[in-house]
Amino acid sequence: VKTIDLRSDTVTKPSAAMRQAMVTAEVGDDVYGEDPTVLRLEERVAEITGFEASLFVPTGTMGNQIGLHLLGRAGTEVVCAEKSHVVDYELAAMAVLSGLLPRTVQTVDGMLAPGEIAGAVAPDVVYRAPSTVLVIENTANMAGGRVYGQERLAAVIEAGRAEGLGIHLDGARLWNAAIALGVPPASLTVGFDSAMVGLSKGLGAPVGSMFCASEALVAEARRARKRFGGGMRQVGILAEAGLFALAHNYERLVEDHAAARQLAHGLAELPRFEIDPETVETNIVVAKVPRETTAPEVVGAFEAVGVLAGAIDREHLRFVTHLDVDRSAVEEALDRISALS
Ligand SMILES: Cc1ncc(COP(=O)(O)O)c(C=O)c1O
Repeated sequence: VKTIDLRSDTVTKPSAAMRQAMVTAEVGDDVYGEDPTVLRLEERVAEITGFEASLFVPTGTMGNQIGLHLLGRAGTEVVCAEKSHVVDYELAAMAVLSGLLPRTVQTVDGMLAPGEIAGAVAPDVVYRAPSTVLVIENTANMAGGRVYGQERLAAVIEAGRAEGLGIHLDGARLWNAAIALGVPPASLTVGFDSAMVGLSKGLGAPVGSMFCASEALVAEARRARKRFGGGMRQVGILAEAGLFALAHNYERLVEDHAAARQLAHGLAELPRFEIDPETVETNIVVAKVPRETTAPEVVGAFEAVGVLAGAIDREHLRFVTHLDVDRSAVEEALDRISALS
C-alpha cells in the first residue's frame, strides 16, 4: 500500500516544474551579495511581508534565533507561549547562542492573550533578569495550527510594546494564517520588529526560510547569519525554488486547510479520538487519543496500515496536510484508520 505521510508539511518533495526552475536559476556568490536569484527572493519576500528587507536563511530555526539574538541581550528573558517552537524544538539555542532565558506563559488555548504579557515580564528590580523580547507564533503549531487574527495580534503586540519588548514573529506558517483569514500576509506583520517566514513548510520548497525586518536590522542579521554558519554561496538554486513556491503554491494552501478539516471531521466520528473539528483553522490537526492507549502506540498502529502521523506527547497526535496529500489521500487515510477501530 502507498504510504500516506501526514507527519508534517515539511515532507513534500519538489515537483518536476520546481526542479526545472532550479536547474536554470541564475547564481552568484551570495556571501558577496552577488546571487541575483537570492536578491530577487529577498526583495519579493520583503514586499509581501511588508518589511523593508529580508534575508534568505537555511532554516526557520536560524531565522528565529537571529531575531532573538538581535532583539535580545545576553542575561535577559524572552517571553513566549509554553510549547512555542523556540522553546521546545530549537534545542535551547536561545540559551546557547545568545544567553537568553525563555519565560513561558501558560495559555488557555495555546496562544498568548494580551492580559498575560505584563505578568510574564520581570519586574524592574536588581535581582531579576530583565525581559527584552516577545515571540508570537502564527500559526501556533502545537495549538493545532490556530490563527492569531488581526485584533488579537494587535492587542498582544501592544501589551508587549507597553513593556518595552522587542517583538519577533515566528511565521513558519504565516502564509497559512493569511490564507485562513483571507488577508494579505503583510497585514499580519504590522507592529513586529522582525519575522521569520518559512518556504519549506506548506509552500513546498526543499529548503529555506526568510528573516524579515528593517534595512538596518537585516544588515545586522546578515552578519549574525555568517557568524552562525549560515553564509551560503551559489544558493540561487534554492532561492529559485522559494520563488517558485511563492508563485505556485501559495493560493492552494486553502486546499490543505479543507483537507485538514475533512480529516478532523472524519476523526471526530471515530470513537477513539477526541477532536473538535471547529478548532481546525489551517493545515494542522491535533487529536487526543483514548485514555487506555498512548499516542506513540497509536502512531505505531497507524504506521502498520501505511498512515504516518506524529505523537507530540503521550496523549496527542498531530497530523499535517500538505501539497503531496490530496482529499482522496485523506479519505483513504481515514478508511485505513477506521478499519483499525
Ligand atoms: C512554528 C515553527 N517555527 C520554526 C520552525 C523551524 O523551522 P526549521 O525546521 O526550518 O528550522 C518550525 C518547523 O519545524 C515551526 O513549525
